[in-house]
Amino acid sequence: MVANSETALSVDSCSKCGGPVKDQPFAKTEQGYCCESCYLEMQTTKDWQQERIKTETVLAEVLASAIDLREHETGLHSKRVACHTLELARQCYPNDPELLRQIYWGALLHDIGKIGIPDAILLKGGPLTESEWKVMRTHPEKGYQIMSQIPDMQVAADIVFSHEERFDGSGYPRGLAGDAIPWGARLFAVIDTLDAMTSDRPYREGMLFDIAKAEIQRMAGVQFDPEAVELFLQAEPVMRRMVSLKCGTAVIP
Ligand SMILES: [Fe+2]
Repeated sequence: MVANSETALSVDSCSKCGGPVKDQPFAKTEQGYCCESCYLEMQTTKDWQQERIKTETVLAEVLASAIDLREHETGLHSKRVACHTLELARQCYPNDPELLRQIYWGALLHDIGKIGIPDAILLKGGPLTESEWKVMRTHPEKGYQIMSQIPDMQVAADIVFSHEERFDGSGYPRGLAGDAIPWGARLFAVIDTLDAMTSDRPYREGMLFDIAKAEIQRMAGVQFDPEAVELFLQAEPVMRRMVSLKCGTAVIP
């Protein structure tokens, strides 16, 4: 709280409740001056929201690692792509923590729908048949159905729904093209390919960053939004460092 000695300022009413502020304890907030009771209520709400965000993030990360463990050896793929996508998104929306969190959660839970894909298809060693592919291609929609049940997760749910789309419209499940694909999903697509190419697989070692970078540039305008590729190139030093560290941590806004 700001001491009442500063009430020489021309503050008459609380910016929140409109009640009198003059000659009472008051506080300066981003919205203006407010009375003590509104200030205390705001602080409680803020603490509660931060706790909620922390819990949601931990739950989402645990869920993502469970999905990864089913398909990937390390269980860190989802966390890595989420951190790298968040890093790119930060360049576009440095002052929008809510949107950044949605993009992080969307990237983190992109494959949540695979929970509904049978092991015989998801873990099949050889190439999938056309009918198996048909089942596999349902995972973005299955993921969307799961995510859209969570309150206030619409942006993240849309990223999950659209994460297999391609800029030229040849992706799935809806064949969206260009701007019709959510921006977070267009950023994610670049990062997913970067991670897939630079990660070790049971049958090959991870490729060099420069090989993945050349492929991403080659597919600009086809698989990837050229603007997302440009953003990736601008962030090359940090992307390169994250890939070399196999980084799977980020400061969540
Ligand atoms: Fe996927």
